[in-house]
Amino acid sequence: MNKIKLSCPCHFGLESVLSYEIKKIGGYDLEVTDGRVNFYGDISMISKANLMLATAERVNIVLAEFRATSFEELFQGVKSIPLENYISKKDAFPVKGHSLNSKLHSVPDCQAIIKKACVERLKSKYNITWFEETGSKIQLQFSIMKDNVAIFIDTTGVGLHKRGYRKNANDAPIKETLAAGIIDLARIRHDSVVTDPFCGSGTFLIESAFKACNIAPGLKRKFAAEAFGFIPQNIWVEARQQCLADIDKNAQFKAFGFDIDADSIELSADNSRKAGVFSKITVAKANISEYEPVENAITICNPPYGERMLEIRQAEELYKIMGQVFSPSAKNPCYIISPHEEFEAFFGKKADKRRKLYNGMIKCQLFMYFK
Ligand SMILES: C[S@@+](CC[C@H](N)C(=O)[O-])C[C@H]1O[C@@H](n2cnc3c(N)ncnc32)[C@H](O)[C@@H]1O
Repeated sequence: MNKIKLSCPCHFGLESVLSYEIKKIGGYDLEVTDGRVNFYGDISMISKANLMLATAERVNIVLAEFRATSFEELFQGVKSIPLENYISKKDAFPVKGHSLNSKLHSVPDCQAIIKKACVERLKSKYNITWFEETGSKIQLQFSIMKDNVAIFIDTTGVGLHKRGYRKNANDAPIKETLAAGIIDLARIRHDSVVTDPFCGSGTFLIESAFKACNIAPGLKRKFAAEAFGFIPQNIWVEARQQCLADIDKNAQFKAFGFDIDADSIELSADNSRKAGVFSKITVAKANISEYEPVENAITICNPPYGERMLEIRQAEELYKIMGQVFSPSAKNPCYIISPHEEFEAFFGKKADKRRKLYNGMIKCQLFMYFK
């Protein structure tokens, strides 16, 4: 397996950030589509991508791509994949996936056909009729979009946003992968100072510390593919060694987090301790109305946004206060993510740049003030 094709889904709007990350770790021949980046690498790319990519949701191996408008075409397309190179006699190989704008729209039917094709292929290769599926779990995934089928192996398991540091979260934490993308757009460097006046569980503070100190976001967790028989163990050992060697221990980075809620402050401290970046982060209970900008700091935050009308009005009041206490400038840039269409009107200043991002299913904008 000198050359394998990998596919990483990401938040809509972060494709360019992820592409940059992929090129940095040696991925090549990138194909970028909405919410996904495909690329090539050798087998060691599986461990590097899982450990090092901050904005990818998972890392899939692309087994096959073909068109299918009938179950027979789907069956034959899957049966022609050399699955025996990936799945041993005892491995479990569950199938899941999705279909959009395609003739083959029934997901349960597609799932059953793909499973049947896999069984037929492996039966003929292994000369057995029954698969006990008690070994490693090789999760197969399919995507059918406008009749184009892609069959993947998921190498990640639990999504990559689970870094291993946030066992506990507050009510509305931002996803770690989205936070990492925003941090990239905010150009955090080894000597940056970051503040988050609505720090909640501390995601922006911790992800900024990772970026500034060059700490691989996956260093504290395991990945599904570590149990795959067809992947040599040494690629994990070597990639982890490289990640440890790459950490910038002399980074001058500092971060300050504030929140009105004492439990959130405790949570931020606890999570930053679990993430191993506690020494870089200072947190304190404070209301935004008392906020005083930290000298030469980059402010990054996702202020509250209510779902009910009363909460939305309260959020709008907070945006007005933010407009009064933040003083965005080239020396004190501010990056604020909000789904509120009128955010700038309440904040009282038009953003220098905006970027559409999705926080889960919620359409948001990243309002960037850097002049
Ligand atoms: C959307 S959450 C931020 C989530 C955070 N980014 C995270 O990843 O966990 C908004 C936070 O603002 C805090 N908050 C609400 N009103 C505030 C105020 N007036 N001053 C400071 N913090 C406030 C809430 O306690 C909550 O933790």
